[in-house]
Amino acid sequence: MTVFKKLFLLIILTIAPRLIAQETQFSNLIQNIDSRDKISLNGLWDIIIDPLENGFYNHRLQEKNDGYFLNAKMKSPSDLVEYNFDSSDQLMVPGDWNTQMERLYYYEGTVWYKKDFDFTPKTDELVYLYFEAANYEAIVYLNGKKLGSHIGGYTPFQFEVSDLLKEGNNFVVVKVDNTRKRENVPTVNQDWWNYGGITRSVHLIKTPKKHIQDYYIQLAKNDPNTIEGWVTVNNASEGEMVKVNIPELKKTVEATLKNGKASFSLKAKPTLWDTQNPKLYEVVIATQTDRITDQIGFRTIQTNGSKILLNGKETFLKGICIHEEAPFKTGRVTSKEECITLLNWAKQLGCNFIRLAHYPHSETMVREAEKMGFLIWSEIPVYWTIMFENEATYANAENQLTEMISRDKNRAGVVLWSVANETPESPERLSFLTNLANHARKLDNTRLITAALDTQSQDAKGRLIEDPLGNAVDVIGINNYCGWYYGTPESCAEIKWKSAYNKPMIMSEVGGGALFNLHGEKNERWTEEYQAEVYKNNIEMMENIDFLSGISPWILMDFRSSRRPLKRIQEDFNRKGLISEQGMKKQAFYILQDYYSKK
Ligand code: GCU
Repeated sequence: MTVFKKLFLLIILTIAPRLIAQETQFSNLIQNIDSRDKISLNGLWDIIIDPLENGFYNHRLQEKNDGYFLNAKMKSPSDLVEYNFDSSDQLMVPGDWNTQMERLYYYEGTVWYKKDFDFTPKTDELVYLYFEAANYEAIVYLNGKKLGSHIGGYTPFQFEVSDLLKEGNNFVVVKVDNTRKRENVPTVNQDWWNYGGITRSVHLIKTPKKHIQDYYIQLAKNDPNTIEGWVTVNNASEGEMVKVNIPELKKTVEATLKNGKASFSLKAKPTLWDTQNPKLYEVVIATQTDRITDQIGFRTIQTNGSKILLNGKETFLKGICIHEEAPFKTGRVTSKEECITLLNWAKQLGCNFIRLAHYPHSETMVREAEKMGFLIWSEIPVYWTIMFENEATYANAENQLTEMISRDKNRAGVVLWSVANETPESPERLSFLTNLANHARKLDNTRLITAALDTQSQDAKGRLIEDPLGNAVDVIGINNYCGWYYGTPESCAEIKWKSAYNKPMIMSEVGGGALFNLHGEKNERWTEEYQAEVYKNNIEMMENIDFLSGISPWILMDFRSSRRPLKRIQEDFNRKGLISEQGMKKQAFYILQDYYSKK
């Protein structure tokens, strides 16, 4: 590519997203589904495995107009019916298909899902069909009519279906395709299992015709004595009132709707949410026709040079990384109990911080972590070699970022939005990620923006953090595998770090692998003793980084990855967990626990 073309591309990539996103919008997601009148569609769904996409294209690869013919019913014995949900297999929703059906373990392609349900429509309500997540691309049909599609495996999406629901039997059909593609987010290479399916819950959400759609309520930036925010109401008339009430603070404020949005602020002195006392207040939002309650914490988060301040107090983030891998049964996490098991292990470790890698985890996980007082790093899967020069890839990444922030913007526990993990440096990548960071700030100017960078360059004096992305973020994440991917464990202790930025650094990954209960010499790879040595020496190194404000070692629990096949050791699991997927703690768990107990 000529220099001119590269320059032109860089200019386009820098201004195009800004031109497109004149007004930075949240997504149209219904906020806080826990507080809504909802019907679960979870349970067994009929499925048809469709590797050749016969349910979508005819044999000449022309797309079928209705997109959905799989429910052909046999009307007479002579009818030719080859795809019939009624006689098909079933999968549990929520859940990945890989761990539910042996023949789907490695499957990447399309599975069609179908769910029948009875419903009684009411004239005075609206109904939304809400998916908490489906990996990777979903096309949704209701009663045979195509509603639309969603791309991205870890954020919610919804369709308003009031006019399509019938009295009595209705049916939803979903085409889920987890095929990895070069232009996707993430792209074709990832170090976690490509679990496909309707991986999180599905609901019918009923609301009054005039209903509260979204809200954003928190302390004013850098002012712990003012609570401010806004509420949007669908189908409301100009000038209608919205009431926000915080009973425990004896505070009520009324705001007037203008163009469907009501903004407010009120003076208050709430007990601030923090990791020792994760105080949440019941907040009641009401209009003439709708009433929502939420549990909201109030806190401030800032940086001051290389320090991170929670409520104005320097705070060291004692963390751990977590993938959404279910303990014991493995596969995608699908229940609150599994979230709590993982969070309790992080608590036992002595953590006040978790990095939810490498994609938005479930709303349940974020809410439970917040209740337990964890500071949260939440990220989108802009991972490794994303197609940074591709505008559609940027739009996809920005949409996933918008959906993540839209869903969790009221969660005090979330303090860091991350826009990338270990992305190779280039002008296109810098522009892509800088635009994402700017977009995140436009949506939410109160939280810190970060990214996990690759291990940095090393010279005789040690490692220098100089990635130009450091200019675009508030906190610099560094993934460092001294003692595992380079150097011996013992060589790590004396490595010195310098930074070109006066910003906090979080060691966002550090660690090494071990098979639980494999023992040997401390220089013997895969033994618990070796992993413990990696931790001992890296802790010594990190203690000497004066601009380090947190660490989130990789990783709490072993997790499934198709990059990790080593027989008798990995067996499709990345073994860098401090705990095995069966809940067995390795020696390194206690090394880190001891360090945190003294931090
Ligand atoms: C990388 C990457 C992780 C990966 C880990 C590893 O840093 O961010 O997703 O699992 O290293 O190699 O185990």
